[in-house]
Amino acid sequence: MSAPARFRDLTVIVTGAAQGIGHGVAAAVAAEGGTVLAVDRSPLVHDLAGPAGAGAGQVLAFEADLETFAGAEAMVAHALGVFRRVDVLINNVGGTIWTKPFEHYQEDEIEREIRRSLFPTLWCCRAVLPSMIRRRRGTIVNVSSIATRSIHRVPYAAAKGGVNALTASLAMEHAHHGIRINATAPGGTEAPQRRIPRHPGMPSARERRWYQAIVDQTLASSLMHRYGTLEEQIAPILFLASEASSYITGTVLPVGGGDTG
Ligand SMILES: NC(=O)c1ccc[n+]([C@@H]2O[C@H](COP(=O)([O-])OP(=O)(O)OC[C@H]3O[C@@H](n4cnc5c(N)ncnc54)[C@H](O)[C@@H]3O)[C@@H](O)[C@H]2O)c1
Repeated sequence: MSAPARFRDLTVIVTGAAQGIGHGVAAAVAAEGGTVLAVDRSPLVHDLAGPAGAGAGQVLAFEADLETFAGAEAMVAHALGVFRRVDVLINNVGGTIWTKPFEHYQEDEIEREIRRSLFPTLWCCRAVLPSMIRRRRGTIVNVSSIATRSIHRVPYAAAKGGVNALTASLAMEHAHHGIRINATAPGGTEAPQRRIPRHPGMPSARERRWYQAIVDQTLASSLMHRYGTLEEQIAPILFLASEASSYITGTVLPVGGGDTG
């Protein structure tokens, strides 16, 4: 049986594509025929660039800091310059930087969490929408988190709650423009060692205990009592990005083994 080609003739931006879920999504979209702009602030994103193989699409790489609106605008301008259009935007940048009880967060740490896990999605949606509205078509998939209801990462939870809210509200505003906006909310996910760490420095013994409490809570609240795989996160993102989900908008799909966040 030949591989599906749900993204043939489509141009797809994937943010946070240098590693992890974003890297896997970019490679999978290209394998299904898509032309991908893989975007990251790390130069490691260039490792993905190139043709994706016989019968597949290709990946172009672009460096941008998506915590700034200027970065998001540069990304969209580059995509429109090269491809003339953006069919699909997958907003994947995010991830908790620290894990600890809320009373231990400093003011600047709370701001950095919101900048990391809310603003890139907000800026990229704002940057891409005018061109999608002009064409009266487009699809956006935001990567949220089940951690909107969890312990030891309240600022991240608040940021991802914002992602859920903007997903629902943008879908209401833009359904009549032919634009669908959905999100997945990944639960705990096994990933290889990160080449780009969430934050520099070694965790203390106390920080390791706080992190272990998250793992224990995640395993307890997942009905399947296990972490998911990268592939199990990538597949629902591709579904929501493709025409297979053409009658779905404004939805946040929990992908956490039955944990609804
Ligand atoms: N991995 C999990 O267990 C898990 C669970 C729930 C939700 N999520 C969500 O899934 C998404 C991906 O998670 P991951 O674990 O693959 O992340 P990761 O930390 O492994 O990778 C994130 C990527 O985003 C890039 N990035 C960070 N800030 C950026 C910026 N300002 N501009 C451009 N690029 C930037 C990084 O360089 C990196 O390549 C995130 O939104 C995260 O919140 C992940």
